[in-house]
Amino acid sequence: MRITILGAGNIGLAAGTKWKAKGHTITFGVRDVESQKAWNARAIGAEVKSFQESVEGAEVVLIAIPFGVADEVIKNINTDWEKMVIIDATNPISAGTEPFDSAAEAIAAWTGNADVVKAFNTTGVGNMMQPEYNGKAIETFICGDHAEAKEVVKGLAEDLGFRVVDAGGLENAILLENLAKLWVTMAYRLGKGPNFAFTLVER
Ligand SMILES: NC(=O)c1ccc[n+]([C@@H]2O[C@H](COP(=O)([O-])OP(=O)(O)OC[C@H]3O[C@@H](n4cnc5c(N)ncnc54)[C@H](OP(=O)(O)O)[C@@H]3O)[C@@H](O)[C@H]2O)c1
Repeated sequence: MRITILGAGNIGLAAGTKWKAKGHTITFGVRDVESQKAWNARAIGAEVKSFQESVEGAEVVLIAIPFGVADEVIKNINTDWEKMVIIDATNPISAGTEPFDSAAEAIAAWTGNADVVKAFNTTGVGNMMQPEYNGKAIETFICGDHAEAKEVVKGLAEDLGFRVVDAGGLENAILLENLAKLWVTMAYRLGKGPNFAFTLVER
């Protein structure tokens, strides 16, 4: 698929590297096409463009920038967002989502695309690079209101090596964002470090 990734930091580069290896066409959108992160992205064989140019022709757009700057970045891109599957990986850690309940619902409103899928936010980048513990794939939890968009994201999540758990509609994005806050708190405030993941067991 033609995937554009807004942001070439930890999450963007990890996803882009693995999707590129699976044969997807990767374009990064960045604010400075000469930055070190931009050159890191080129090093994996991806194209790197301005935010505006990066979304042209995209089938899927992964939002991998801080939530606090997403409003400004999205509003400065003139495109038909409804033509794309939008994946929101952001976590509103240092910026509030008001008047929206969640970052994903804010991004749905700002893009005018109600089919945003929340994904990849509930665990750290190390787990995205290596989503396996004791020989078993860990889960990524996704939610959204559009079945076809979720199917696309499910396939892309499996390309990253995740097992996918459908957590319902976009109104549940706040739950996934809070799950991420728990992971970050345990990893970095309670000293557990990033080498753990939440998993789902069933019977
Ligand atoms: N890291 C994780 O483990 C993790 C896990 C799950 C979800 N997330 C979420 O994923 C998103 C990206 O996290 P990350 O760790 O990949 O961040 P990061 O490594 O800091 O990269 C952030 C990216 O956003 C760009 N950016 C920052 N400020 C900007 C601005 N004012 N305008 C335009 N672009 C700007 C940066 O570009 P410059 O190089 O130009 O600054 C960079 O490309 C965040 O929303 C985070 O909450 C992160």
